[in-house]
Amino acid sequence: MITVNDNKVFILNTKSSSYVMSLVANNYLVHEGWFSRIDSWSGNCGPSKTDRALLYASTPDLDKRNLSLDMAPIEFSTSGLSDMRYSAIEIDLPDGTTTLDLRYKTHRIYKGKKSIPSLPATYVLNDDEADTIEIDLVDTKYDITVTLFYTVWEKRDVICRHTKVHNGENTEICIKKLMSTSVDFASAEYSMLQLSGAWARERNAYFRHLVPGTQAIESLRGTSSHQQNPFVALVNDGATEDFGEVFGFNFVYSGNFIARADVDFCNNTRFLMGINPYNFGWNLSTGEDFYSPEVVMVYSNKGLGDMSRTFHDLYRERLCRGKYQFKERPIVINNWEATYFDFDSEKLLALANKAKECGIELFVLDDGWFINRKDDKRALGDWIVDEKKLTGGLKKISEDINKVGLKFGLWVEPEMVSPESNLFKEHSDWALQIEGREPGLARTQLVLDLSRQDVQNWIFNTLKGVFSSGLISYVKWDFNRCLADVSSAKLPAKQQKEVLHRYVLGLYSILERITAEFPDILFESCASGGARFDPGMMYYMPQTWTSDNTDAFSRALIQAGTGLVYPSSVMSCHVSAVPNHQTGRITSLKQRACTAMAGTFGYELDLTKLCQQELSEIKEQTDFYKSIRHLVQYGDVYRLISPWNRNVETEKICSWQVVSKDKNKALVTVVWLYAEAFAPKRILRLKGLDEKAFYKDLFTGEIYSAQELMNAGLVITGDSKYQGALQFLFEKQN
Ligand code: GLA
Repeated sequence: MITVNDNKVFILNTKSSSYVMSLVANNYLVHEGWFSRIDSWSGNCGPSKTDRALLYASTPDLDKRNLSLDMAPIEFSTSGLSDMRYSAIEIDLPDGTTTLDLRYKTHRIYKGKKSIPSLPATYVLNDDEADTIEIDLVDTKYDITVTLFYTVWEKRDVICRHTKVHNGENTEICIKKLMSTSVDFASAEYSMLQLSGAWARERNAYFRHLVPGTQAIESLRGTSSHQQNPFVALVNDGATEDFGEVFGFNFVYSGNFIARADVDFCNNTRFLMGINPYNFGWNLSTGEDFYSPEVVMVYSNKGLGDMSRTFHDLYRERLCRGKYQFKERPIVINNWEATYFDFDSEKLLALANKAKECGIELFVLDDGWFINRKDDKRALGDWIVDEKKLTGGLKKISEDINKVGLKFGLWVEPEMVSPESNLFKEHSDWALQIEGREPGLARTQLVLDLSRQDVQNWIFNTLKGVFSSGLISYVKWDFNRCLADVSSAKLPAKQQKEVLHRYVLGLYSILERITAEFPDILFESCASGGARFDPGMMYYMPQTWTSDNTDAFSRALIQAGTGLVYPSSVMSCHVSAVPNHQTGRITSLKQRACTAMAGTFGYELDLTKLCQQELSEIKEQTDFYKSIRHLVQYGDVYRLISPWNRNVETEKICSWQVVSKDKNKALVTVVWLYAEAFAPKRILRLKGLDEKAFYKDLFTGEIYSAQELMNAGLVITGDSKYQGALQFLFEKQN
């Protein structure tokens, strides 16, 4: 997978791509390209390192003007020399500058992949799955080594990258910026695909064509954020869902990030992704190392769909962990939108009984179960059950729910503290706040300082007590504000810029401990809906709440965007009441369920208020979902018509298909985003079937050849009788 020849040309081969680097002009490491797989490299095709340059590197063969740092595709660029572009690294050095001159020193190649200290990352189970190369670059003046890590997966089109800085100087240095990946493309003929939005409008797909200058997405919120997901794809001009070259980048990190594509004066594009340098600074003492988080880089020459399936397989198989990694996930009923804070045991049990009748498997008790939590203005931090609402505590209610025949799950928001809480009265210094300033509240709450070991221990021990106090099978781990007033009472002034990253490391440390302590609990991550829908969280928790917006129309857009990167098994989707609590829209129960069946499935509405006909319909839905859930959660997703297809007619429809890995089953879903009278017809060409086989539509009994379904296609005509959604379930015939 990795070869390095005598001329120090590094070729990293994935299943169908090659990533090539070489050394030029006195050991500068340059990027020669990343493209469909090649077997040999003459060097004659690489991008120019000098063309139209004004500034040249100061090398011994200066007369030859054989390297312009300002032009060349530098593999890991620095600032302060003659590269005038945004750099991949900046360190405050003893001489007062940030100027590093990094040259190749040595490299190591080994089988497998090492974990990254204290950080989540993809992993191998067997060393044959991937090879890793570590390339050491050293500064010409200071004893500082920057190591670039590349893990190359044999059977996937994936390269994972991260970076390490080692301080060999006998004085402290401060890292101001350290990117996890940097790729210089010799072209700007790409569109940048990003997943952007807001609370209740997360991860809608946006495309913009690159132009000279900077195009960036970032989070400054201390979390990966609702507003921008830490994902970017550079989509080659002409590439589509099924054809063409796509480069996907996803950051395995849950805090501030930046992803930027800078197009220079020669049409080169430098792509960088890493921790956001804003409010970041890491002091590194003599002999210490600092590791950046991982970026997963996916290559496809078969379009966006193939890129998505590569991410999905990798994340399901080599990012998620634990007992539920490959397990079919339970159908849940969550009481949040059914009761909000207004509940007691009796009400919960009535809901659980109805849920049981409907075939639901797990009951989630959401916010409001602990003392004084009558609304969202108080009591976070006081994780003691409110016995006025729940006589007998979590033990009794969880046992009673189990007696009904449902497993029991619990909501917690452990990273927060309300000013009106006993915890805050006792430990006001545990909240992030800047000395001498009044901290700003969001949802009337503050964030605990997870950079502190004592706070981490308290959270772990408190949760351990709560999770042991009843029959708890599932936990929804919520996080409902972003980080502001970031300062830790525990750290000296010069370390305050470490707090944002230390917070994330503290969170990961707690998650590692708590998930190890409770291996049988299914954990679902949530952050006011989907503000932390990132691969960092998925390493600890195999599910994430996709959005607080469960309106079928909005969810079709949110889920389509989310599915560009993240697999269905992590995408938690519920059916809620109409009019929808976020949008006020009314959609049919059928449309809501068909939409929610794109991921792990559940309900979030007061079943006790539904009529018998609706309850029977829900029972049919849960029966159906149980029959397809393995297919949905672990199959291959193909987008047939996506919300970003810019065609007037197609924009009114969203359609996706899931095919089982053995190609025996395929579920096709069509949802109409706008109801239309006498809607125009559309042809739906299926994908990914066994081309030689015949398939039976299990709803109608009709038999089709796979070629008919994929080449001729199904003709779909909108009709009010479909109630906004249509499903086909195909089974391969022997
Ligand atoms: C957040 C979550 C919701 C719900 C509420 C409870 O908004 O995203 O699902 O749990 O908190 O306060």
